[in-house]
Amino acid sequence: MNHHKTKEYFGFGNLTPADFKRLSEFIYTHFGIHLPDKKKYLLQGRLVKRLVALKMSSFAEYTDYVLKNGLNGDEVFEMIDVVSTNKTDFFRDKAHFDFISETLVPQWRGRKVKGWSAGCSTGQEVYTLAMVLEEARRESRIANFDLLGSDISQSVLQKAKTAIYPYREVVNIPESFRKKYLLRSRKPANPQIRIIPALRAKVGFILLNLLSESFPVGTDYEMIFCRNTLIYFDSPTQEKVVSHLAKHLAPGGYFFIGFSESLLNMDIRTMGLKLVKPTIYQKTGG
Ligand SMILES: C[S@@+](CC[C@H](N)C(=O)[O-])C[C@H]1O[C@@H](n2cnc3c(N)ncnc32)[C@H](O)[C@@H]1O
Repeated sequence: MNHHKTKEYFGFGNLTPADFKRLSEFIYTHFGIHLPDKKKYLLQGRLVKRLVALKMSSFAEYTDYVLKNGLNGDEVFEMIDVVSTNKTDFFRDKAHFDFISETLVPQWRGRKVKGWSAGCSTGQEVYTLAMVLEEARRESRIANFDLLGSDISQSVLQKAKTAIYPYREVVNIPESFRKKYLLRSRKPANPQIRIIPALRAKVGFILLNLLSESFPVGTDYEMIFCRNTLIYFDSPTQEKVVSHLAKHLAPGGYFFIGFSESLLNMDIRTMGLKLVKPTIYQKTGG
């Protein structure tokens, strides 16, 4: 390793347990993301690039700076970007999309469908929904659709809006969809794909903290996806978020969580939800 770089890295000193506690409490209170003590080194490592960007010389200086400006500062969103994990894929947990086209589309016959991906990261999930629903629309199985993606991170939303992805990500997209819904740049050095404008036009994005008191996104969604996002929250926070999201579902609307998640320890009945299949819930009254 380059000796100079090594020295620079260690030049920041350590994130002290006291500063870790101040930052993790702040992150938990405002964003619901729980960072146990064992994540101290992970946080420290990820914050190095923020210290470099801000030309700061210690974690103590950084902690003071973030906490002094609180939610009004710009840095808080940069910090959440490095803290949260944004991993996502096209057609992730594919059974959900099969369930939509095989079971839900027939129920929605002739309707305009409203869907929301809460915690959408860089957009692959919401564009997957767009491809599946556009397919149904072209076959006259539904009238139309309207999709929303939301996330707490400004930088992932920027990527989602641009809708440009590395070419290698097409492996997850069915071959017949690639021709219809993707544009391809043939630059050999950096092959990329872009979602076609007709699909992009049906997807909107907003910055939204799932812990906020109100979600200014309207109600009556036929489906809400909140997959691989609840895992960052502790149980009481998960319960609060799920019950809030459920209020935005249409009667009979569907709620999807990630394959590695469950709502088992929640009183979903009081939220008006019932389990349809593992990881798929339905709001009663449809
Ligand atoms: C792992 S990604 C999941 C992406 C996609 N739903 C999927 O399953 O592939 C989790 C996303 O949740 C977002 N997130 C974390 N805490 C959040 C909060 N309090 N409010 C809104 N989004 C949050 C992160 O920024 C991240 O983009």
